[in-house]
Amino acid sequence: MSLLSVLRMGDPVLRGIAAPVVDPTDSAIGALAESMMETMIDAPGVGLAAPQIGHSLRMIVMRLISDRSGVDEPPRMIALINPELEAIGTEIEFGWEGCLSVPELRGVVPRYARITYRGWLPDGTRVESEAEGFQARILQHEVDHLDGILYLDRMRDFATLGYGPEIQAAAEAAQRSDDAL
Ligand code: NI
Repeated sequence: MSLLSVLRMGDPVLRGIAAPVVDPTDSAIGALAESMMETMIDAPGVGLAAPQIGHSLRMIVMRLISDRSGVDEPPRMIALINPELEAIGTEIEFGWEGCLSVPELRGVVPRYARITYRGWLPDGTRVESEAEGFQARILQHEVDHLDGILYLDRMRDFATLGYGPEIQAAAEAAQRSDDAL
């Protein structure tokens, strides 16, 4: 395993359509998944797609975020190969996103609130499940990478785009002024 360098916006691999993985149980795919997880945790990030590390293949890794309360526990994560998503209903949520390929920036992005997802684990297990909220957001963001789409393409209001620390400071200032009322 080794840390991989993450491509940044402007690299054409990030704008390509990734190819399906022919054999999810190929040991090279498993090794790549391990390195992607290690790279994601080191970044740190909550998701990473194979095109971001220069492999135009339909594979993502992501944190399973239900464990966020257990700070001392090792993070739970999965690799999902040839993932497919489908919206459940039409409810849209707006939420903040960033991307390791677009360092430092954050913006508000609309995503489906609930989705089903399907794919394969590197051990050949078929996955079919549902996700909502932030987990659903991660999945939609990462699968977009497989189709050459960055979160910026999904934004509806570029006035929300900014640098993480400035957005955090603005949110804290707004909170203080609320508290003062
Ligand atoms: Ni991203």
